[in-house]
Amino acid sequence: MTAPIWNTSAPGKVILLGEHAVVYGQPAVSMAIGLRMRVHVEPSTMSSLNGVQLTSHNYSYVSACLAKMGSAPMSVMTSSDFPSGSGLGSSAAVTVALIAALAGRYGPWKEAEVAQQAFEVECEVQGRASPIDTSTCTHGRAILVRPEPGEDLLWQMSLDSRRWCVHHLDAPDMTLVIGFTGRSAPTGPMVAKVKRYVDRSSFARDMVEEIGQVTLEGVRSMAEGDLEALGRSMSMNHKLLAILGVSSPELDRLVKACLPHSYGAKLTGGGGGGSMVALTDRPDQVVEVIRSKGGQPFVASTNVPGVKEE
Ligand code: PMV
Repeated sequence: MTAPIWNTSAPGKVILLGEHAVVYGQPAVSMAIGLRMRVHVEPSTMSSLNGVQLTSHNYSYVSACLAKMGSAPMSVMTSSDFPSGSGLGSSAAVTVALIAALAGRYGPWKEAEVAQQAFEVECEVQGRASPIDTSTCTHGRAILVRPEPGEDLLWQMSLDSRRWCVHHLDAPDMTLVIGFTGRSAPTGPMVAKVKRYVDRSSFARDMVEEIGQVTLEGVRSMAEGDLEALGRSMSMNHKLLAILGVSSPELDRLVKACLPHSYGAKLTGGGGGGSMVALTDRPDQVVEVIRSKGGQPFVASTNVPGVKEE
C-alpha cells in the first residue's frame, strides 16, 4: 500500500494600499499574486522540513502547524516561486498551505477554518500578527480589511481589542512588478516606530487618516477598472508612508525609478526594506529598471486563486 500524500499550494501577497494605517482602524487592500508556495506532506517516522528534522529551535511555523493540527510525524517539502523574507508573505503562504494539507487528511476543508487556524499559528509564532497575510493567502484574489463588517464579508477575526473584518474585493486583472530590495526587514519594529510617532503627533494621526482616504479612493478606482487612478492612489500612499517614516533609501530609489514606466508604485508591507510594488502595463521595462537599481524583480499576475489542492 502506498503512503497517503497531500499536495497543496497558496499564493504570496502584496498589500496594495493601507498598510500601517490599518493598525489604527483604517481600511487596507491586499492582493494575492501569481507566485505560489507549494507544500507536499506525507507521513514519516520523524517530522522534517525539506529533509531537515524539526527541533524546538528551527522552522517554528511548520512545527506550530503540526502541533495545531494534532498531527503524527510528517515529512514536509516546500518549493516557492518567491524568496522568504521579501515581504511577500512566505510564512503566511507556507502556514496556510500546510494547514490545508493537514486538514485535507479528514476530507474537504473550509476557507474560513484554514484562515482562522493559520492566523492563530502566526500569532503564536510572531507574538503579534494581523490576519491580513493569512487571509489573503487563503482566499486569494483580493481582500479589503476594515474594522466594521460590510458587503462581501468573508470572516471576522479578533485579538485583544483589535477586530478585523475581511471582505472579498472584486479587482480588475492587473500586472504587478515587485522589486525586492534584497534586505529583509521585520515588520514589528516598523509598526512600533509608527506607533511612537502617532502617539505624540497629531500630524502623524492626520497622515494615517489620509492613507485611509487614499485607500478608499483606490478601492473606487478598482471597481471602475481605472488603473491610472489606482496607480495615483498607490503613489500617494507611498508618499504618506514615507512621511510616517517607514520607507528606506532603497525603497524610494526603486519606486522613483519605476514611476516613469508605471501607473503608480509604492512600498508594500511593513517597509524599512522588503519590497515595493509597481502597477504597470510595461512589465519588461519595469523589470529592467528594478534590476538596474540593484533590486530583484518579480512579475506577478493578480486575481489568482487562494489555497488549493494540487
Ligand atoms: O509586513 P507585512 O507584509 O506582513 O505587512 C504588515 C502590515 C502592517 O500594516 C504594517 C502591520 C499590520 O499588522 O497590519
